[in-house]
Amino acid sequence: MSIKYPNLAKPIKIGNVVAKNRIFSAPTGLTGYSPEGHFTTDNRAYYEYKASGGCAAVCLGECIVHKESGSSHNIQPALDDITLLPSLTLVAADIKRHGALANIELSHGGKYGGIVSVAGELKEGKVAYGPSEEHLASGEHVYEMPKEMIQSLVCAYGKAAGMAKRAGFDMVNVHAAHGWLFSQFLSPLQNHRTDEYGGSLENRARFFLEALDEVRRVVGPGFPIEVRMNGDDFVAGGLHLEDYIEFARLIEDKVDLINVSCGSHEVEKLFVRTHPSMFLEHGCNVYLAEAIKKAVNVPVSCVGGLNDPAQCEEIIASGRADIVELGRALIADPFLPQKIFENREDEIAPCLRCFECLGHAVDAMGIRCSVNPVIGHELDEKCFNPPAVPKKVLVAGGGPGGMQAAIMASARGHQVILCEQSDSLGGALKFAQNVDFKADLYKFSQTLKARLMKTNVQIRYNTKVTPELIKVLAPDVVIAATGAVPVIPPIPGIHGPNVFMASEMEANLDNMTQEHLGEAVVILGGGLVGCELAIQLAGQNKSVTLVEMRGEVAADCNCFHKIAVGLELEKGVRVFTDTKVVEITDTGVTGKDKDGNDIHIPADLVICAAGMRSDPSFMEAVSAMDVRLLVIGDAVRPGKVTQAVFDGYYCGKYL
Ligand SMILES: Cc1cc2nc3c(=O)[nH]c(=O)nc-3n(C[C@H](O)[C@H](O)[C@H](O)COP(=O)(O)O)c2cc1C
Repeated sequence: MSIKYPNLAKPIKIGNVVAKNRIFSAPTGLTGYSPEGHFTTDNRAYYEYKASGGCAAVCLGECIVHKESGSSHNIQPALDDITLLPSLTLVAADIKRHGALANIELSHGGKYGGIVSVAGELKEGKVAYGPSEEHLASGEHVYEMPKEMIQSLVCAYGKAAGMAKRAGFDMVNVHAAHGWLFSQFLSPLQNHRTDEYGGSLENRARFFLEALDEVRRVVGPGFPIEVRMNGDDFVAGGLHLEDYIEFARLIEDKVDLINVSCGSHEVEKLFVRTHPSMFLEHGCNVYLAEAIKKAVNVPVSCVGGLNDPAQCEEIIASGRADIVELGRALIADPFLPQKIFENREDEIAPCLRCFECLGHAVDAMGIRCSVNPVIGHELDEKCFNPPAVPKKVLVAGGGPGGMQAAIMASARGHQVILCEQSDSLGGALKFAQNVDFKADLYKFSQTLKARLMKTNVQIRYNTKVTPELIKVLAPDVVIAATGAVPVIPPIPGIHGPNVFMASEMEANLDNMTQEHLGEAVVILGGGLVGCELAIQLAGQNKSVTLVEMRGEVAADCNCFHKIAVGLELEKGVRVFTDTKVVEITDTGVTGKDKDGNDIHIPADLVICAAGMRSDPSFMEAVSAMDVRLLVIGDAVRPGKVTQAVFDGYYCGKYL
């Protein structure tokens, strides 16, 4: 078998260890630790699952070197706590068992340590220390870190690295990026010290260099030390690429791998660049690693929005970086490396960059993924027994939920027929192919289709499941994956020729002429669907107005995607919140704004994005028959693709 991506498959030596290929799992911190910050069996299963997919190294997310002053989130592993050692040792073994290098990120929150984080909470009674005295916008006071504390933290980094080595880790990753401790000391915007730790770049880097020397002293020569640094802070007055090139030259003799990221975890607008949103290009930060690689003689890895194997191969082949580090792409599909090395690329679920993973961490202190229902539930995979009696299963609907249910039911050994009333699979995801920033969502529908085609599922197109068909096929189980229908608000004029439902627009945008679209578009409903349509049409140079009854738009988005959506809307969409539409005419929309004033918004085209509702008629008809009925996805409650995939997966799995 010839390997399609030979450069990704090449081993590489980092310090005195060999990584089996060029794909590393970037640090992805978890939230579901024990109350003491220890790794639980769930945490271990998460990291093991990643390692089992074939990447060369798995890095644990932020582990804090000094708990009292440095915790950047509510509950985190603390490497100055000896009681962490047993679970830390187990997690290293879980990773190494699969031939991946166990890597661990050593971190400290600096001025955010113990007090505030976008993913944490304000903690009362804590004192924060940063490079210089400062009053944070959150209301917290930051004290200048005394020199004695700097020296004790230098020791803490060494001790933390020692603990990691003792636990069996193959390498350590010292975090100097994303606005945490060392990033703060490096930044002339934040470091105003007049002692030897402030002033010139050498001085601002001194703390970090001392910590690196201490880590090296403890771990010994050859033990791989990775550094995670920014290539650009992307903030006026902060450090930029030319500064970071100089910084990389200062550290290259002390480290074995430089990972180049960017931005800040604690500044909203930068968060969606550090973790590139779906509105940015794949690999938008690779040029930073490329420039730093040209300046140093140690291996350099890049990170950010990478999920396309061909792009990753090109990065390595052309020498832009030595290693690609993937964060969310390996949450979406930990088996990405194995699949590409086995030429099964079509089965890879692409990361949608929808922030479901990080949003769920904030909302529920857990992790989940829109396209990978196993993430956060890895332990459940250990029980996958064949069913006692194989069943005949009829799936109604070939959207993501229906396809996922059919794939899993077939994997369980059931006889499965999937009926789709249109002539193609994909359901609501089909229309994502018309939208640039939803290309990965469309790709995901193709992934499900490819997986489905490799099963024994019988697929019937142009076939609507009716009670008559159920009588003929006589299944044991019917899975209703029939989707939802649009909500049509009772606004005068809503049925006019200039009004389209959002779902119709999504389906037909490709075929619509500029004449159909006109110049001015008003979208009724500022939920996620309305916002994304607005962004898309504004990108086609339409004059777009979004009208929302509630006080905010994108209220149904997770907190991080909401930031990304907000930044895109700011680029060219007029937004009316707290505004009620009272009539649609052939010249536009009239309504009342938040102050009760009458408004008229001229429009050539009005799009109704007032949401979706489930339609129980099919389920009611089937429930009267002698067949077991299961209902999944939007047919239960309209939602995001996450829910459809999750429902389909577990419905099929537990049949
Ligand atoms: C769930 C999650 C947790 C993360 N936790 C950390 C962390 O603990 N430390 C860190 O340096 N970066 C963390 N990151 C950032 C990633 O390492 C990576 O830099 C970022 O997600 C961009 O890469 P990607 O587009 O491949 O996801 C996290 C990312 C995600 C999605």
